[in-house]
Order: sequence, then C-alpha cells, then structure tokens
Amino acid sequence: MQLDEIRIRSKLGKKYAELPMFIYKITDSTNLRAKEYAKEGNRKLAVFIADEQSSGRGRLGRSFSSQSGAGLYLSILTEGGMPAECGIDITTYMAVIASEAISELTGIDVKIKWVNDLYAGGKKLSGILTEGQTDENGNLSYSVCGIGVNILKREFPEEIRDIATAVEDECGSPCDVNELAANIIKSFLDNIHLIGSKKIARKYKKRSFLMGKSIKVIKKSEEYPATVTDITDRCMLKLRLQDGSEEILSTGEVSVRETFS
Ligand code: BTN
Repeated sequence: MQLDEIRIRSKLGKKYAELPMFIYKITDSTNLRAKEYAKEGNRKLAVFIADEQSSGRGRLGRSFSSQSGAGLYLSILTEGGMPAECGIDITTYMAVIASEAISELTGIDVKIKWVNDLYAGGKKLSGILTEGQTDENGNLSYSVCGIGVNILKREFPEEIRDIATAVEDECGSPCDVNELAANIIKSFLDNIHLIGSKKIARKYKKRSFLMGKSIKVIKKSEEYPATVTDITDRCMLKLRLQDGSEEILSTGEVSVRETFS
C-alpha cells in the first residue's frame, strides 16, 4: 500500500485541482506538518498525508501507532474564523464524514465512540485529533483536523492489541488507501458548511457506539458511572447519573463500563 498523489488527485477531480497536497514517505506527524505550514502564514485549505508517522499524535498526549503503509494518516488544514470552542465541531464533523467514507468503501458498520474515535466490531479502527491556534478574540486562526485509519491487519503495540482493529480485520481485505484518502478529503471539503450543524449531529447520533450504554466518566479528579441517554444537537453526551440527575458532557473522556469498582 503506497500513497500516490496522481491517483488521489484523479479521484478528487477538477474541482480540487488547485488544492495544495503534501505527501510524505515518512514524517513525524501530519498534524505537525500542517501546523507548521499554517504558522508560515498559510491559511487556505491544504492536505498532508504520510505513508508512515514516526510520532503519530493522539488526544490527551497519547501516541497513535502509524506503521509504514499500514494505514491512512491524513491531516486537513482549514481556515479559522470560528470561535475556539467550535474545534469540537470539526472533530465530530470528521467523525461523521470518515465513518461514512469507510462504510461506503468497505461495507463495515462503523460506529462513533464519543468523542473522536471510530469503532468497528467493538474495537478502535480510527482516531481523530483536531488542533488549532486561537487569536486574541478567542477565534481559531486556523485548525488542523487529523485522522488515522488502521487499514492493514498487523501486530499492534502491546498496550492497544486488545482494543485496536483494522479494515482488513473487519472485512477480510484491506481497502485502497488512495481511494479512502480521496473520498474523505472530497466529502470533508464538499460539506464543510455543515460543520456544527444539526444534520451532522443527527448522523453522529445514528452511528453512536455509546447510546444507551453504561459508561465510566473519567475526569482529572474523579471517575464515576453513568448511562448515555442521548446525543445533543452539538454532539454532546447526555448522561443519567446514579443518583438520577442529568449531566451534559461537552468534552472529556469516557470508557465503556464492564464493571465498576
Ligand atoms: C486519537 O486516537 O486520540 C487520535 C489519533 C489521531 C491520529 C491522526 S493520524 C494523522 C494525524 N497526525 C497525527 O499525528 N495525528 C493525527
């Protein structure tokens, strides 16, 4: 599996002929490449894709396993302007766009695990990391939305072996990395006006891995059990706590609860 700019561009078509596209055999992180490009003053849409990342980044300072030719490692730079708190809307938007693109290409029933992971067969298939810079008015100067999709079946690092999966694991054969890249980029750019919309929230809810499930809310100072009762119009998690009260979670981390002690 190797990235091929000509094949990606031919699938993107004429509409995106001028789109800046940077393809790397290996780089530390496509999100870092995109941020560096933005810091040079570039603000227009651009995409960054790598065959391999030596320091793939995940949320909460975690790493993202990005072996050579084994997955799609893609970042999209978008213009800023929106309030910084809308960064989450870009993540949820990418979650919907990418889950649809993967499902259409592979037939896999892709679910979204709030807030930024794509799941298949109960395991993590893909992760999304949105980063950006905030200006003096509290708006994003730019944002970078990166997605990693595991495509080839392989030995994952020990710490994620039981919880990670790949397209090949789920449907028996890998998909074409160039076709998947082009489909995600095209759909992301074609529908960009839908970021933060109710239409995206409805689709997000339909694919939610957590609806109705018992989960554990993980905060800096505490952990507690809850049940997911709904996904709001802004893709926030509506929870019922054990004392019967409700909470709306706009950011943070949750895990699916097997047992709670
Ligand atoms: C997560 O699992 O918490 C998010 C993972 C995001 C990985 C993608 S791969 C392309 C882009 N470059 C990175 O360094 N991270 C994102």
